[in-house]
Amino acid sequence: MWGGNPIIAYCAKKVHVMEKGERMSEKPRVGMVMGSDSDFPKIQSALKVLTDFGVPFEVHVMSAHRTPHRVEEFAKNARANGLQVLIAAAGGAAHLAGVVASHTTLPVIGIPVATEMMGGLDSLLSTVQMPGDIPVATVGTGSGGAKNAGILAVEILAVTDEELQQKLADFRRKLVEKIIEKDQALQEKIG
Ligand code: RP5
Repeated sequence: MWGGNPIIAYCAKKVHVMEKGERMSEKPRVGMVMGSDSDFPKIQSALKVLTDFGVPFEVHVMSAHRTPHRVEEFAKNARANGLQVLIAAAGGAAHLAGVVASHTTLPVIGIPVATEMMGGLDSLLSTVQMPGDIPVATVGTGSGGAKNAGILAVEILAVTDEELQQKLADFRRKLVEKIIEKDQALQEKIG
């Protein structure tokens, strides 16, 4: 695992501040970074998905402009530390995902975090408009985007993980059931 000092861990459906040297019990497969702790409330749906699918992860606050060396160290060591997918969330001039991607060939998913200035358009364009050669798989802004980042990470891991493939199939089946129930409720309501 990355040798820095993790600031926030979200596992077993709870958040706590980790002490220096403390480690999550399962080896993380997904590494998530966010540019500021102010991003945290907006990206929790990604972490909930990973938790619900039973995917161990680690999550850190690190900034491409405030702590560039920590970002570089994290991304360069990610594969050797056992991580298989990275998620980077940032707002404004949101270069974090691109910088992370520049230091690794692991798949990187970018979450554009909405800011007060432009409602997230600045973050979206900064994250999605990577010049050719260094891809960032960018999801939408808002909690739906963060949720999709978690699901996409699971789908990437599921390429070689049959248990996750089954869980994804169950997830999709439940979605269908929910929509059918909603349709039935609507039909009953409008009679
Ligand atoms: C970005 O600047 C962060 O990802 C955050 O979305 C935004 C504002 O950060 P704070 O000023 O709240 O720390 O780097």
